[in-house]
Amino acid sequence: MDKFRIVGPTRLAGAVAAGGAKNAALPALAATLLGDAPVALDGVPRVRDVETMRRLLAHLGQQSEWRGGTLALAPGGEASPDDAPYELVKTMRASVLVLGPLVARRGHGRVSLPGGCAIGVRPIDQHLAGLEALGARVALDHGYVDVRADRLTGARFRFAMPTVTGTENLMMAATLARGTTTLDNCAREPEIVDLARLLVAMGARIEGAGEATMQIQGVPALAGAAHRVIPDRIEGGTYLIAAALTGGDVRLEGTRAEDLTPLLEWLAGAGADVEIEPGAVRVRRNGTLRARDMVTAPFPGFPTDLQAQYMTLMTQAEGVSTIIETIFENRFQHVAELARMGADIRVDRRTARVHGPTRLAGASVMATDLRASASLVLAGLVAEGATTVDRIYHLDRGYEAMETKLARLGARVERLRSAE
Ligand code: EPZ
Repeated sequence: MDKFRIVGPTRLAGAVAAGGAKNAALPALAATLLGDAPVALDGVPRVRDVETMRRLLAHLGQQSEWRGGTLALAPGGEASPDDAPYELVKTMRASVLVLGPLVARRGHGRVSLPGGCAIGVRPIDQHLAGLEALGARVALDHGYVDVRADRLTGARFRFAMPTVTGTENLMMAATLARGTTTLDNCAREPEIVDLARLLVAMGARIEGAGEATMQIQGVPALAGAAHRVIPDRIEGGTYLIAAALTGGDVRLEGTRAEDLTPLLEWLAGAGADVEIEPGAVRVRRNGTLRARDMVTAPFPGFPTDLQAQYMTLMTQAEGVSTIIETIFENRFQHVAELARMGADIRVDRRTARVHGPTRLAGASVMATDLRASASLVLAGLVAEGATTVDRIYHLDRGYEAMETKLARLGARVERLRSAE
C-alpha cells in the first residue's frame, strides 16, 4: 500500500487550485441514471471514489468516458441490471445514492446494505423511510435492500435528522414521482444545492434546495444536461488549515468563500489573517495561534469533514481547545496517531480536549479514514523530522494529487509506491 513520506517542519506558501467537489460529483453521477439522454460533467475530481461510482454505473449499464476534463455519460438500456453489488458498496457507502434514481426511473433498485464504517454505524433508515413515504415497497433480503414501485407518488416526509445523502436520494427520487413531494428537516449542504442545479438543468422542478424545507414537483421524464460541479470546500479547507498551521501564506484559487464560511471564521478567531477575493481565499499567519473551541454541525455549521484537520491545527495553538463531534460517533481515530507524534489530546466519548502547543515529532502513523489521513499529513508538515503515513489509499478516495499540490506550496512530501 502506498505511503506518504513528509519531512518537517515546513512553511507553506503560494497558490493552489481547488479541485471539484467529491461530495457533489458522486450524487451528480448517480443522478444521470434519471435521464434518458447524455450528461456531460465538468470539474469532476479524479479520485478513487469517482472511479468506484463509474464502475457501479457501468454495472448498471451507464457508460462513462473522460473527454479531456469532461466526464461524458450515456444512459443505459432498460435491460441493464438494477442492483448495486456488495463488492462495490462495501468500498464506498455513497453507492446508496443510486437507489432513489433506480426506483424512480426503473421501478426497482436493489442495493447492498452498507455495513459499518470506520467513523460510525451510519444507517440508511431515513433513505428507506422516505422512499416508503413515496409509496415504495422496501424489503431486506440477504444483506440487500430491495425497493420497488410502479411509479412513486409525491408526499410529505420529515427527516429525523438532516442527512446529506438521504436528502439527495429523496430529492432525486421525487423528480419523477406523480405529484408534489415536500421534504422537511433537509440537510442544507452546498453539494445538495449543486445537485438540484443539475436536476433542474435535466428538466426537474425543485424549490428550496439548501433550505430546511424543499418542494419537488414530479415530471414524466428527465433529459440530459451539461453541468460543472462546485469546488471542493473540504479539500480547499484542508489546504487553508495547512496554511494557518504552518505559519504560511496560501491562496486557494477557484473556490467559493460562501461555502467555507464556518471554517474561515474559526481560522480568523484562532489568529490567522483571512482575505476573501473574487473566486479565491488567502490565509496567512504570522502571530500566535490561539486555541478555539469547536462543535461540528450540519451546514452552515462547522463541517465534520474538517474536524480532524482542525484538531491537528489546535495541537499547535496556545491553550486548551474543546472539540465536540456531533455528527459521527467514532470520528476521533486520528487522536491516537497524533498522540504518537507527541500531541496531548484527551478524549471523553464525543469530546476531545486538545492541550497546546506541543512539539510534534516525525513518526510512522496509520491512516484509518479519508479525513483522518489528511489530519496526519498536516501533522507531518509541522513535525520535526520524517513522518510516514501508511494506507494512503484512504486519502486517494477524496484528494486528487495531494502530494503534488503540497509540494508546489513548498512541502517536502513524496509518495512511496508499494509493489502491491
Ligand atoms: C455525507 O455522508 C458525506 N458523504 C460525508 O462525507 C459527511 O461526513 C456527511 O455527509 C456529513 O456531512 C457524501 O456526501 C458522499 P449523513 P452521509 O447522512 O450522507 C445519521 C467525507 O469525508 N443518519 O448526513 O452518509 C448518520 O449516522 C464523507 O467525504 C441516520 O441515522 O451523512 C449521521 O450520524 C465522510 N440515518 C448523521 O445522520 C440515515 O438514514 C448524518 O449523516 C441517514 C443518516
